[in-house]
Amino acid sequence: MGGLPKKAQQLVELREKKNGVLSLDSGALLFKDKKIPPEQVPQLTATAQGIIAAYNLMSFAAVGVARQDLAAGLAYLLSIQQKSDFPWLSANLVSRTQGKLYFKPHTLLNMAGMNIAVIGLTNDQGDNTLLSEKDNAVILPWTNVLPKEITRLKGRADMLILLSSLPASENKKIAEKHPEIHLILQSGNTSGNLGPERINNTLITQVEQQGKSVGILEAHWNAQTKRWGDSGAEKLLLERKNEMDRLAWQIGRYRKNGEPKLVLKDQPDMLAGYEALLAQFKKLEQETSRLTVARNTRNINQHQASSFSNRFEAMRKELPDNPAVRTIVEATTSEVNRLGKLAAKARAMAYTKQGQMAFPENYAGSTSCQNCHAPQFKNWLNTRHASAYDTLERKGQQFNTKCLPCHVTGVLNQAGEIALSLHKDLRQVGCENCHGPASQHAAKPQSARPLQPTKDTCLRCHTTDHDDKFIFPEALARLGCGSP
Ligand code: HEC
Ligand code: HEC
Ligand code: HEC
Ligand code: HEC
Repeated sequence: MGGLPKKAQQLVELREKKNGVLSLDSGALLFKDKKIPPEQVPQLTATAQGIIAAYNLMSFAAVGVARQDLAAGLAYLLSIQQKSDFPWLSANLVSRTQGKLYFKPHTLLNMAGMNIAVIGLTNDQGDNTLLSEKDNAVILPWTNVLPKEITRLKGRADMLILLSSLPASENKKIAEKHPEIHLILQSGNTSGNLGPERINNTLITQVEQQGKSVGILEAHWNAQTKRWGDSGAEKLLLERKNEMDRLAWQIGRYRKNGEPKLVLKDQPDMLAGYEALLAQFKKLEQETSRLTVARNTRNINQHQASSFSNRFEAMRKELPDNPAVRTIVEATTSEVNRLGKLAAKARAMAYTKQGQMAFPENYAGSTSCQNCHAPQFKNWLNTRHASAYDTLERKGQQFNTKCLPCHVTGVLNQAGEIALSLHKDLRQVGCENCHGPASQHAAKPQSARPLQPTKDTCLRCHTTDHDDKFIFPEALARLGCGSP
């Protein structure tokens, strides 16, 4: 949820500048994975509640139910719906026994004098492991529900938007079959930002996951024709006109001293250059006039088509935070940490001797290497790796199971509570994060060799989210491990 204060601030600034700003999300905002392990439920649901509080402050108009949002169970999402100031939408998540809807299938909004209908569709991805027998729910194919939904909304909306977490290929099929839908916002499947793609009269666009970007689509909508114009052709015409302006300026410079054919009589190279410019200009002139005619007939046919422009804004570190949403995020992370602390206490009680904490299998801890590798050990102590856990303590996040894996040793692939009860010798980014578990080697050096780390070793933690300036050779040189 780290990017939320920035996202909120972007929205505030946009709303100051523009009327009719509608914020929509097609889902997959509460959880990353499809299912969360039971011991992670308290911390992750606390985070989910923080996200809802932030979305309330940001005045979201509607959010689609995606599969990931059901990771803590259907009952949980239904309960969190009570705390949401916006509707959660799904037209195809229904009770198994009676076929009744669990969420609103659509919502009608009034924005800038227009009626906008928003429908939600949930992905099922072909397996039903998510919804337990107890949930009494199934996700129906869109073909069963969407046509009815569109019929129901007929004549009631100037614009029809679909929030869909279905796979991109399905959304394309929807667009091909239902030009009545003007915009599909998709989420939760393929990665990355995808600029609007137009199929018939439907635009499909996607913003990358986990709030790393916001997508801003500005639409000038003609509610009479309800048709997107050909903004590609419009752009081409503009480009050609700009190019002609540039050429005209260059041609003008040749003509400054009189007719170039006379002035440059004795300079054949220069003259050739001038004539090439003229020829290019003529060609462009013909193309532009062709494009203009095409544009004008298009406009007559379409009576002022609607236009759009789109951009994605990455939530970079430098962007300003919204203070109110930052307060929510801070309160949430401290609550998450408090829950982790409770769990850590409970686990510590399970050990007979106080303070005797866990070593994951085959780990020995960094101090065990000290005797035989004194120079590397001394060097390592001077790096920030050795104090990575202290960094979390300083931030009051040392019990946050989301942060721990990259700031301690031996739990990168097994988050969860083991990270909360690690032995002191593993509460740093220790030797074994890079050289692999080495208890056998430490006991009998010749019998087992530790690993030589590669770039991939580092990238498990130095992800772009957490370190967008990571350059392997430079970082390696800074560490200076190995060559004492
Ligand atoms: C009892 C002494 C001893 C301890 C304890 C020990 N090592 Fe070693 N280590 C050695 C010796 C000796 C070698 C050289 C082995 C060889 O060249 O065959 C070695 C080699 C290595 C190498 C280089 C491997 C290579 O392929 O070149 C790494 C890395 C390493 N140790 C890491 C560690 C780490 C991490 C620990 C602590 C978990 C550790 N060692 C604990 C004695 C020790
Ligand atoms: C288990 C996670 C993890 C792995 C694996 C990892 N790092 Fe780091 N690294 C961190 C963390 C966390 C920090 C920041 C620590 C802090 O400031 O508290 C960090 C900081 C650094 C720094 C800054 C150190 C300083 O003292 O200025 C460098 C350089 C670095 N890492 C290089 C590497 C390289 C090179 C590799 C791979 C050979 C690597 N790291 C592997 C987690 C990791
Ligand atoms: C995927 C691995 C990963 C996770 C998860 C992670 N960190 Fe880090 N963290 C890093 C790395 C790598 C660095 C070093 C970045 C650098 O040197 O620029 C770092 C650096 C830091 C720093 C010091 C640098 C700074 O930006 O001020 C703080 C503070 C920090 N992390 C806090 C946290 C907190 C709090 C969490 C949990 C909410 C967390 N980290 C989760 C990998 C991670
Ligand atoms: C962030 C990752 C990282 C950490 C942490 C780390 N090392 Fe290394 N270590 C490396 C890399 C990478 C190399 C290879 C350096 C090179 O080739 O220039 C290396 C090399 C070595 C070597 C020498 C191997 C040789 O062939 O000469 C030894 C020994 C070693 N490390 C021991 C340790 C010990 C002991 C610790 C903990 C006190 C430790 N390392 C912590 C990344 C790490």
